[in-house]
Amino acid sequence: MTASQSSAPPTADLLARLAALLGPSGILTDSSDVAPYCTDWRALYHGRAAAVLRPAGTAELAQAVALCAEAGVAMVPQGGNTSMVGGATPDESGRDIVVCLSRMNRVRRIDPLDHTMEIEAGVTLKAAQDAARDAGLMLPLSISSEGSAQIGGVLATNAGGNNTVRYGNARELVLGLEVVLPDGSVFNGLRRLRKDNTGYALRQLFVGSEGTLGFITSAILQLQPQPRAVEAALCAVADASAALALFAAFRDQDPALIQAFEYMSGAGMDLVTRLVPGASLPLAEAAPAYVLVELATPRRNADLRAVLEDVLAGMFEAGTVSDAVIAESEGQRLALWKLREEHAEAQRRAGASVKNDVSVPVSRVPELIDRASTACAALIPGIRPAPFGHIGDGNIHFNLVQPEGMDPAEFLAQDHRIMDTVAAIVRELDGSFSAEHGVGRLKPYMMPGWRGGAELATMRRIKNAIDPRGLMNPATLFPPAG
Ligand code: MLT
Ligand code: ZN
Repeated sequence: MTASQSSAPPTADLLARLAALLGPSGILTDSSDVAPYCTDWRALYHGRAAAVLRPAGTAELAQAVALCAEAGVAMVPQGGNTSMVGGATPDESGRDIVVCLSRMNRVRRIDPLDHTMEIEAGVTLKAAQDAARDAGLMLPLSISSEGSAQIGGVLATNAGGNNTVRYGNARELVLGLEVVLPDGSVFNGLRRLRKDNTGYALRQLFVGSEGTLGFITSAILQLQPQPRAVEAALCAVADASAALALFAAFRDQDPALIQAFEYMSGAGMDLVTRLVPGASLPLAEAAPAYVLVELATPRRNADLRAVLEDVLAGMFEAGTVSDAVIAESEGQRLALWKLREEHAEAQRRAGASVKNDVSVPVSRVPELIDRASTACAALIPGIRPAPFGHIGDGNIHFNLVQPEGMDPAEFLAQDHRIMDTVAAIVRELDGSFSAEHGVGRLKPYMMPGWRGGAELATMRRIKNAIDPRGLMNPATLFPPAG
């Protein structure tokens, strides 16, 4: 039985009332219009939905949610549909209603003195970054899917990404939140205060809840000053241990300068340069592994180039870095980032892949990569590990591409075997089975083993208190009870 089978199917009467409330641009019911909302970016899940709602504002959404709740109909929030774990895809029952806030896409206000931004859920992360930049500030959250990912989804999943090493995850940026709760009532916590000790920090409950507790409709985010200087370099290294030696050297110079510190395996880089048009390696030779380091500062007259060159010179001498290229222009900096950001796309083009978005203490990343590579090769001969990611915060995407020539479905049928093998090593290294992508529909089966006992029981009590009928994103996060 799927989770949504405990909910009611939407009746013609409910759909008519929703259509009357939201108007023609606020509801989709034709199967060809609804279909794109029923498959995730990785094409792992192919669900069905009775309708897609596209409300124009919080009041409209709240009324629509109240109607669905009264009818006992399940609702699946969906932002830019970029989830890596199927967390925004309806199940196969056809009973769910997908709710999209893409029409709520205004940046309402940026306060240059408070360094805050009030923003609606449907704004893409890229548009939010641009708005902050145009106001002379910076929204320090950057992920590969930022062109499509929307603020509501980014917050609901507590996205991490490339700048976590310096500014933390999405959670750390949230000062205030407005949420439509599963019964249609509105929690207005749009406060822009740094200090607000008034009981439970409810807003943090919704950040990372993966749409299981309500709809995030708008937020007040903490901004940062815009950097006055940025320097980026791509470095060739032997392995993850060398990458961490380089990380330690930059941190030793000045930890406050490290804006991003990303690791890429030679295998992953090879896929990018072979499969992504316009991506080429700006180094003389391919290397076993790479680091993309970015330094940035809002300080006036800071000589970041000198810091970068100084650290790299020491690392060349120590044999830690074998080659490096420093971006000489904004165009070159973006070209270096393209090599990193296109990893997920290159792996998609290479065939089926199994993603392990895991975290371990930073010091244990080399052991994770070594042990997991060996274990997976023993499991499926010819499997192609292509680990990459946010090594500066201990979050590695230990992704594995199918062996050449294998049937993609045959490979994907073994995803739990592969994920469990990697997870067992992650557990021994004191890590987590989901670092930044969340649990979604892919990993609820892991929750009892990793978060069982009092932790999962408490999460269920919170869920039951806020969404007693289990109508919000029912296939996500929680394994079936019992
Ligand atoms: C990234 O950092 O590019 C992603 O989170 C994507 C992935 O895991 O494939
Ligand atoms: Zn990532």
